[in-house]
Amino acid sequence: MSKAAVLFVCLGNICRSPLAEAAFRREASLRGLRVEIDSAGTGDWHVGKPPDPRAQAEALRHGIDISGYRARRVERGDFHRFSHIFALDHVNLADLMAMAPSDGRASLSLLLDLVAGKKGQSVADPYFGDAEAFALTWREVSEAARALADRLALAAAE
Ligand code: 4NP
Repeated sequence: MSKAAVLFVCLGNICRSPLAEAAFRREASLRGLRVEIDSAGTGDWHVGKPPDPRAQAEALRHGIDISGYRARRVERGDFHRFSHIFALDHVNLADLMAMAPSDGRASLSLLLDLVAGKKGQSVADPYFGDAEAFALTWREVSEAARALADRLALAAAE
């Protein structure tokens, strides 16, 4: 199997997908997985910016410093570079499907498809919410990150 490479995609790449990236980096490192990990946004308003301060604060509550992350936009090359692209919500998924080249290697799916009982659901956008909205985002992306790391660890052992 070629090396797994995982990309998390939301709208702005400053709230949900950086938290998904942070949670999955932790899970992958706990299991010693060799996997490339990144996040991106479908929109370009925040390109080059660090994560939203509320997302940074939520990550720090879990001991993870994401202040060095920088937002970027999804690009066509990502569909070749990454084996798995996870959309945080349905709109992100539709946008990804519309821009995917026919010869890309990436499989596209919703992040919460990984979580038992949450298949087909979106990670709600916390941008217009409060700290509790970011805490909920963290819980959801962490659940998905654990499930994904379990799955990749199994695949690596095969
Ligand atoms: P994200 O959140 O997609 O989770 O990074 C948002 C960030 C920015 C905006 C909306 C959602 N915005 O409208 O600028």
